[in-house]
Amino acid sequence: MILPCGKKTLTAFAAFAAIWVPVGAETLHVATPGTSLVLEATEGAPLKFVYYGERLGAADVDAMMASAPRTLDAYPVFGLGALRETAMSVTHPDGNMTLDMSVSGVSESDGADGSHTVTVSMSDKHYPFGIDVNYRTYPDADVVETWVEAVNKGKGTVLLREFASAYLPIRRSDVHLTSFYGAWGNECRMEEKRLPHGMVVINNRDGVRNSHTSHAEVMFSLDGQPDERNGRTIGAALCYSGNYNLRIDTGSSDFHDFFAGINDTHSAYNLKKGERFATPPLALTYSNEGKSGVSRNFHRWGRNHRLAHGTDLRKILLNSWEGVYFDINEQGMAQMMADIAGMGGELFVMDDGWFGAKYPRNNDVSSLGDWTVDTRKLPAGIAGLCAQAEKNGIRFGIWIEPEMVNSVSELYDTHPEYIVKPTNRPLRQGRGGTQLVLDMSNPKVQDLVFGVVDTLLTKYPQLDYIKWDANAPIMNHGSQYLSADEQSHFAVEYHRGFAKTLDRIRAKYPDVTIQACASGGGRANWGVLPWFDEFWVSDNTDAQQRVFMQWGTSHFFPSVAMASHISAAPNHQTHRTIPLKYRIDVAMSGRLGMEIQPKNMTDEEIAMCRKAIAEYKQVRPVVQQGDLYRLLSPYDGKGVASLMYVSPAKDEAVYYWWRLNNDVNPQLPRVTMAGLDPDALYTVHELNSIDKEPLPYEGKSFTGRYLMSNGLEFPERHNVEYSTLNDYCSYVLQLKKK
Ligand code: DGJ
Repeated sequence: MILPCGKKTLTAFAAFAAIWVPVGAETLHVATPGTSLVLEATEGAPLKFVYYGERLGAADVDAMMASAPRTLDAYPVFGLGALRETAMSVTHPDGNMTLDMSVSGVSESDGADGSHTVTVSMSDKHYPFGIDVNYRTYPDADVVETWVEAVNKGKGTVLLREFASAYLPIRRSDVHLTSFYGAWGNECRMEEKRLPHGMVVINNRDGVRNSHTSHAEVMFSLDGQPDERNGRTIGAALCYSGNYNLRIDTGSSDFHDFFAGINDTHSAYNLKKGERFATPPLALTYSNEGKSGVSRNFHRWGRNHRLAHGTDLRKILLNSWEGVYFDINEQGMAQMMADIAGMGGELFVMDDGWFGAKYPRNNDVSSLGDWTVDTRKLPAGIAGLCAQAEKNGIRFGIWIEPEMVNSVSELYDTHPEYIVKPTNRPLRQGRGGTQLVLDMSNPKVQDLVFGVVDTLLTKYPQLDYIKWDANAPIMNHGSQYLSADEQSHFAVEYHRGFAKTLDRIRAKYPDVTIQACASGGGRANWGVLPWFDEFWVSDNTDAQQRVFMQWGTSHFFPSVAMASHISAAPNHQTHRTIPLKYRIDVAMSGRLGMEIQPKNMTDEEIAMCRKAIAEYKQVRPVVQQGDLYRLLSPYDGKGVASLMYVSPAKDEAVYYWWRLNNDVNPQLPRVTMAGLDPDALYTVHELNSIDKEPLPYEGKSFTGRYLMSNGLEFPERHNVEYSTLNDYCSYVLQLKKK
């Protein structure tokens, strides 16, 4: 239905949680249950931003529209007026570099998933060029997804120079920015600072993996220092698998100008006659319950509307990588399967090293691309392994890295034209000195990659899980497939090809679980999660560093998607020796799994893990589907980190407390809980207990009010035999409503 612009008032859409609440023909009120975005769309004038924040009633919208200035364009373009940061700039066929956009219509549509989309169409006043600005909402989520589509309605080619997904003005006061940075093995570290004058830029240029070094998600705390429980907070996540750019410009106006979109550096796009270019969506939320409120909004939206199988519980698995690395053989796999089954696990995943005929994959220098089982290592093949899994009563999963090839492989021998490579330049090779990236812009490569998954899943329908890895950046900047005038499209076309391939895979195999792994946490982005069920947070499995990384990750991603594994001590990445209890207590705060050689574990350790897995199964629905309350940040330097999950009905909760230093008499703070029903009585039960005596409150019941206003005390050290005392201490509590 086209909503006319002008002064008419529209009827209907008045039902509860209506996501499109027209209060006047000029006023667009894009509303979610708890938030409002208000715009003004007047035919012949630019689309104006008026308000984003707390959900407004009709009276406030009317009063605001009668009084608020309309100084800000909702989607600023490069064109007329004084030069400032813009979301879109183009060059028309005649060389004119300006845009003069105005609203030409408003339409709306409903999606099969319950979503509702409002589209504001804008046209250039002189040139045949259009921009559709879209806002998508859901009746049960406080998130607005916004993106644009640029349309070339003329005969010549228009060059897109800048093409951001969205712009959001943020009123200046004491706004603080929360962002995430990192590196391999240290992903998603949190950084918080007052927004400075000038420009803050967060971007990615890897080409393939986009969340190692920085994240495409930010929070804005509007009222000063970021707070987990209180304060008006905006959260924004660019949902894209490729290179991105987030910019916050603070100049002379009263607003911080926030832009988010594809990184357009080296990516100018020739928009041909009749062509439409859609940007990825920026997901926005607002909460007055601080950063944790923003996280809960994102988690709920993500589980219900974006993450593959977001509302299903995940299996407890053992992954073979840190246990055996490339040393794959039938006996070893059988032993690991029996071991994880014996501990109560539900799935075994065979990692790298299982494939390669002419070139066996014994290390990282060869075989990527040759996805045939190495029968020297696995005589009974994958079918044999699936049968073994079945015998153990568990499911079987497998590792692949289908976007990649080694120059030492049969695939490269036969199809060197499939790799990403510019003309007339020597090859730069990655991991192992031989790794190259396949050109996903090439439809033949898309077929090939689809075929890797299709062959595995048709031959072995028992396969339950795929770990999809990607371990190289784009180092050779050019496509052997794209034409000369499309070379600058490559970064975009790679991810279009990736999306098309994953769409095909999901259309044929909707049920298989797929993990996004990319040298650890290189693909933690909402852009990939419609196809993937979860992501590997980091190749670093050190429990203490994971407290920090998972803390950052939890800001935008729900625990059901956050693969978190118990690994060996000393840890293979940090070489730190962390006791099993602590390793378990950290891994149990995400999607629990194991990354270890069980045959190297003692009977006592096996028994501990068996107990932990049994207990995790009891609390799994709360951990994986509950509401997250971050309570005390590891970044605060208070010596403790603490968080909890509360079931939506508030009848159950799981509480975590991890000590982070080993000082004597450290005077640790007592942590108050959150999210509980103040009037309900909760019975406390410690999970993974190792102490000689139960905690003093074990089995006792407290009101939610007491737990949230006072909290519980924890001994600073475990009460264990002197010879087993160590420098770590952690507790996990289950709270059940009486
Ligand atoms: C990188 C991943 O992050 C690891 O978990 C493992 O799968 C290796 N690749 C295998 O080569």
